[in-house]
Amino acid sequence: MKEKRFAGRVAIVTGGTTGIGEATVRQLVDEGAQVVIAARREELGIALEKELGSDRAIFQKCDVAVQADVETLVAATIKAFGGIDILINNAGVGCFGYTPDLDPAVWHQTIAVNLHSVFYACKAAIPHMKRRGGGAIVNVASVSGLYADYGFTAYNASKGAVINYTKSLAIDHAQDNIRANVVCPGLVDTPLSDIINQLKLHDLWVETIPMKRAGRPQEIARIIAFVASDEASFMTGSSIVADGGLSAATGQPNLPKLMEKMNASG
Ligand SMILES: NC(=O)c1ccc[n+]([C@@H]2O[C@H](COP(=O)([O-])OP(=O)(O)OC[C@H]3O[C@@H](n4cnc5c(N)ncnc54)[C@H](O)[C@@H]3O)[C@@H](O)[C@H]2O)c1
Repeated sequence: MKEKRFAGRVAIVTGGTTGIGEATVRQLVDEGAQVVIAARREELGIALEKELGSDRAIFQKCDVAVQADVETLVAATIKAFGGIDILINNAGVGCFGYTPDLDPAVWHQTIAVNLHSVFYACKAAIPHMKRRGGGAIVNVASVSGLYADYGFTAYNASKGAVINYTKSLAIDHAQDNIRANVVCPGLVDTPLSDIINQLKLHDLWVETIPMKRAGRPQEIARIIAFVASDEASFMTGSSIVADGGLSAATGQPNLPKLMEKMNASG
């Protein structure tokens, strides 16, 4: 029987109780990893630990915006599973607001959860990865870190910074055999993007995507797992986009479609 891709590997997944994070936890466990699920909501984390079995996955309560919590998370991982091979920085929050109206507290919190958390986790985990002879870091940013969305200033800034920080990690730690890459999803159906459903905007949103649908959390989890695996052994500092073709377009109007409409209306 073929050995599982992550047999003997230990991973941390932040924001691992819902959406893309939960799908990633399941994918890694399925492929043989021991995973620490880092999140704030105890009832969800404990239920997932119970379901997957505490020999494969344990829950560690952690607010990723708090450095002491992240240090405790890394210490708990070492205590439970003896080391760290894979760090998936996935926890994130959205935020809407034009610059003049944006409460600085909201700006700071968005940057803290989406960006500072990545620094805290890498700072704590890298020395342990070095001790193991290497490792893989996968940061979850967004297409909104590569390009801007109207009114998403703090989110755009935080995700853009994560992308360049990942490149910085990649070059600084290439000689330590630590790879760092970033995955940039477009719209994925998760609790984070549910606001689009609540506003009844899902159909309109999906219309802008060449594939005419949102992604599924498992589709992103499979990419994260690939990047974290030895199959991606020569890949570091890369940004992998999974957005149904959204960012392949310039954003200019669909001229043939517009002309069709004009001809139809005479
Ligand atoms: N869903 C999308 O359309 C989409 C698109 C692009 C990027 N992303 C990114 O994917 C990642 C995962 O999001 P998702 O879509 O699965 O949504 P989600 O809301 O299901 O997942 C985000 C997780 O992060 C956790 N989290 C938030 N703040 C935290 C904190 N301070 N400490 C610990 N955990 C915290 C949340 O509780 C949640 O479990 C995020 O970084 C998000 O920005 C999502």
